[in-house]
Amino acid sequence: MGRIYDDKMANNERTPLITTVAVAPPRQRYSHNVTRRFCTVALGSTMVAVMIFFIIPMALLPVHHRHRRPHDHPSVPIPGGRSAISFDELKTILLETPKEEKAQEWSKYYTSGPHLAGQNYSQVVWTQEKWEEFGVKATVAAYDTYINYPLGHRLAMYDGTKLKFEASLEEDVLEEDPTTGLTNRVPTFHGYSASGNVTAPFVYVNYGTYQDYEDLIAKNISLKGKIAIARYGGIFRGLKIKRAQELGAVGCILYSDPGDDGKATEENGVELYPEGIARNPSSVQRGSTQFLSVAPGDPTTPGYPSLPGVPREPVEGAIPSIPSIPISYVDALPILKALNGIGPSAKDLNKYWQRNTGLGYKGVEYNIGPSPDNIVLNLVNEQNYTTTPLWNVIGVINGTLADEVIVIGNHRDAWIAGGAGDPNSGSACLNEVVRSFGEALAKGWKPLRTLVFASWDGEEYGLIGSTEWVEQYIPWLAHANVAYVNVDVATTGPIFGASASPLMNKLLYEVAGQVQSPNQTVPGQTILDLWDKSISTMGSGSDFTAFQDFAGVPSIDLGFGPDDSAPHGAPVYHYHSNYDSYHWMNTYGDPGFHYHIAMTKIWSLYTAKLVEAPVIPLNATDYAIALKGYIANVEDKLDASIAGIYSENDQLEARARPMVIETKGSPSKLKHGFSKLHKAVARLTTASIAHDAWAADLAAQAGDNIPWWRWFSKLRLIYNIRKVNSKYKYIERQFLYKEGLDGRSWFKHVVFAPGLWTGYAGAVFPGLVESIDDKDFGNALKWVDIIEDCLVKARKSLE
Ligand SMILES: *[C@@H]1O[C@H](CO)[C@@H](O)[C@H](O)[C@H]1NC(C)=O
Ligand SMILES: *[C@@H]1O[C@H](CO)[C@@H](O)[C@H](O)[C@H]1NC(C)=O
Ligand SMILES: *[C@@H]1O[C@H](CO)[C@@H](O)[C@H](O)[C@H]1NC(C)=O
Ligand SMILES: *[C@@H]1O[C@H](CO)[C@@H](O)[C@H](O)[C@H]1NC(C)=O
Ligand SMILES: *[C@@H]1O[C@H](CO)[C@@H](O)[C@H](O)[C@H]1NC(C)=O
Ligand SMILES: *[C@@H]1O[C@H](CO)[C@@H](O)[C@H](O)[C@H]1NC(C)=O
Ligand SMILES: *[C@@H]1O[C@H](CO)[C@@H](O)[C@H](O)[C@H]1NC(C)=O
Ligand SMILES: [Zn+2]
Repeated sequence: MGRIYDDKMANNERTPLITTVAVAPPRQRYSHNVTRRFCTVALGSTMVAVMIFFIIPMALLPVHHRHRRPHDHPSVPIPGGRSAISFDELKTILLETPKEEKAQEWSKYYTSGPHLAGQNYSQVVWTQEKWEEFGVKATVAAYDTYINYPLGHRLAMYDGTKLKFEASLEEDVLEEDPTTGLTNRVPTFHGYSASGNVTAPFVYVNYGTYQDYEDLIAKNISLKGKIAIARYGGIFRGLKIKRAQELGAVGCILYSDPGDDGKATEENGVELYPEGIARNPSSVQRGSTQFLSVAPGDPTTPGYPSLPGVPREPVEGAIPSIPSIPISYVDALPILKALNGIGPSAKDLNKYWQRNTGLGYKGVEYNIGPSPDNIVLNLVNEQNYTTTPLWNVIGVINGTLADEVIVIGNHRDAWIAGGAGDPNSGSACLNEVVRSFGEALAKGWKPLRTLVFASWDGEEYGLIGSTEWVEQYIPWLAHANVAYVNVDVATTGPIFGASASPLMNKLLYEVAGQVQSPNQTVPGQTILDLWDKSISTMGSGSDFTAFQDFAGVPSIDLGFGPDDSAPHGAPVYHYHSNYDSYHWMNTYGDPGFHYHIAMTKIWSLYTAKLVEAPVIPLNATDYAIALKGYIANVEDKLDASIAGIYSENDQLEARARPMVIETKGSPSKLKHGFSKLHKAVARLTTASIAHDAWAADLAAQAGDNIPWWRWFSKLRLIYNIRKVNSKYKYIERQFLYKEGLDGRSWFKHVVFAPGLWTGYAGAVFPGLVESIDDKDFGNALKWVDIIEDCLVKARKSLE
């Protein structure tokens, strides 16, 4: 029988009163300010204009007489009174405040009970109260979102009417790891999966990529009326189910194959968690199955906030219609073995079916099936769909300049009671960041720019809390938001990694060189010293998506990951499993929490520079250089497509999507069109170099001490810094295309988007690249024109 979980859900907290509080300055306030500013100027009432343009921004200039190197930051703010502390003092506070014991305390708190999206209001109140205690005003932003909670599930195998196997669908309770045994622990299930009760023969579909399914079709194996069993990996889980559904499958099972765990496997003699670093065989990866490469956020309110009473759209096409469940490899074994010798085996198929077949040592032959008509699975998935509040906690420190805002955030919700890696390593760091800035406030710090802290809810189901918030405050953010800094999983190991808009790269290299690594094998080495210095492009998979891809706010995502180079591999991170727990983190992931603190320092310092540097520390040249590289890559791809020659990597990537034979439009005409892009990016590069040089010059002047009697130079400098900063603020916005990408209009950015067929991985120039993949060269030419327009707009915005 299926386990029914309503008893476990019954004691979930629900607040009777929903605090929907406007957080950061809501829309009317800023527009009032702006209107007032412009009206005043227009009326020639110089008093207010002088206030806004000069007196308030006087904070941009230094106070004390002190010799500075040009790129040092001067002592900060004035307006209602200058900051009592200098940037160097602020930096010292930010580097000295965070403590391992505190991060452990916060981590332990968040991971001691379930906190699925919308299900733990006491963590909301706790977070808000902590931030207030640290000296930062915080409110709760609530959204009514359409979401599912697990009621029951079952997976059993029958031979005719005879029960052959009943899957446990449970992760083992481990004595060493207390949160694995909570009576109210979260069942194994998929976010946004469909309810259903199906009984059918089954088929093994490998990773469930588009081409895996095509290989089955080529072998005349139909999924119609069958249950698909796929392994995790390669592409976003929702897309595996999407294709199975399109091919007529009635259900889908996803399991974690240890073959994808690298060197740390039982087969290689590595001990299993909790004794060792290999995957615990009963671990299950929960997760969302929303089709999120089409649109993140509440699926019933695409593009607008889920406030009470708003119209709701149907969810068809945004989430699966067939039931699915995630299972462990222990539960998968009897099912996979039942297929041994039936239908083609992985060996009869191409090499993509022979990768990481990690259960061979357990007797699995990886045959495809389908199972004979009498060998069937009964898959039951019962989900409670409901529209229920989610809660973001939003902390604000008002700066002197109300129209320049830095937002930093991390999500709080997890699939499990634990979540010590995802996301609460980030939450522990965020609390230490807030505490550090609170410490600075207590010592008289007055920020130059406004700083907003966000503890997002509902990230796991589909980036819901952050997406709804951005959709609500888009007019304000579009006007005032300078940058967004995200940390999701702060650490699961010692290897530093980042993805970012290239505007933000330079500052990361600078800051990483100012934070000591916890690894002091070589004394004094910094995070920068141990980092391969690669920064990936923005894809999706965390809360920066709405900022970067919808609002055009330059964003960065930071985190430490596993060190796979170790002889037995890295400790396997039990993603979305009960074993992503405090015990795992403190034993294997980050013993002693030193990398939590390193992340806290990087995050704080990076944020402080964005908030305090008189000249916003973005770099336009780096963006132009990156764009030039992306264009070259796309052109290589076009050449390869024309020549029909593909690299190993291209071929692996192509496994995720349909192969198109028929060509539309002319590839040579498109090739010709690229000259427009080269020209536009060259001119953007020139403008960017000039802009950055001007900015560097102003930064140097801001570091000099201009005597009071040269007041005109002072005013001119302030005026110019305001101007250059305003240009920096709006560069990223120039890459928004208001119609959005083809078939997924929510995504507005022409340079960055999640891969349509992979879900997580970043795609550059998605509109153009997808058209080339589709061999639709006419549509690609349309995208060349759209991109050229953006490049021209960006250049003009800088000139
Ligand atoms: C909410 O979280 C706290 C702290 O992690 C935990 O103690 C409590 O059990 C959770 N409440 C519910 C209803 O899950
Ligand atoms: C920030 O400033 C606005 C006015 O611009 C004010 O309404 C708000 O209360 C202030 N917030 C904090 C946290 O001080
Ligand atoms: C699923 O359907 C079967 C056959 O219709 C039925 O016997 C069984 O009770 C159902 N299971 C659940 C959990 O509803
Ligand atoms: C494919 O399978 C169908 C039914 O399963 C069968 O009727 C057909 O003959 C098969 N075709 C080939 C080429 O094997
Ligand atoms: C489903 O969720 C709603 C709203 O949270 C709740 O009122 C209801 O009791 C739940 N239904 C079941 C069967 O648990
Ligand atoms: C620690 O630092 C040493 C010296 O730089 C380096 O060789 C080693 O790989 C580092 N270890 C980790 C886990 O980063
Ligand atoms: C911006 O980046 C370019 C290229 O990396 C570099 O030459 C220049 O010095 C940078 N400017 C600033 C102000 O960081
Ligand atoms: Zn996460």
